[in-house]
Amino acid sequence: MTTKVLFVCLGNICRSPAAEGVLRAKARARGFDVYIDSAGTGAWHVGDPPDARMIAAAGKRGYDLSHQRARKVDLADFYEFDYLLAMDLSNQTDLLETSPPNRTADIRLFLDFAECDTRETPDPYYGAAGGFEQVLDLIEMGAEGFLDHLENESE
Ligand code: 4NP
Repeated sequence: MTTKVLFVCLGNICRSPAAEGVLRAKARARGFDVYIDSAGTGAWHVGDPPDARMIAAAGKRGYDLSHQRARKVDLADFYEFDYLLAMDLSNQTDLLETSPPNRTADIRLFLDFAECDTRETPDPYYGAAGGFEQVLDLIEMGAEGFLDHLENESE
């Protein structure tokens, strides 16, 4: 059965689109049946493509984010997805606070699936260029860890 995963950050133009693209590529490479989308808790960038700096940094690693468009999390997401994966703790708190009580999605911190001590994916939007590489490093680790989790779950 298809596992449905929604990545959630604040603007849906930097971190969660990158996580969507990276997990899609890694799931395909490892043969997982996963449907992946991303959304933001904020609406400032709805309809926009990902940040040009993130498109460029991800593109260098072979992930094409250019066709993605930002959207805001909506009520149906809490029922339609198996996992809502928050990129940082404030994203997770926002999701928990706006969630309907009878949601079916599991709201988790994405990097809790990674083999690293870092729990939050830092927001690179206002930071230096190197921040995008650091974010992609963390996301690649998180994606492998999440797929390991799905693999263990299905055994
Ligand atoms: P993201 O980064 O949450 O990783 O997409 C941000 C992008 C834009 C804004 C905030 C965070 N903003 O406030 O416009």
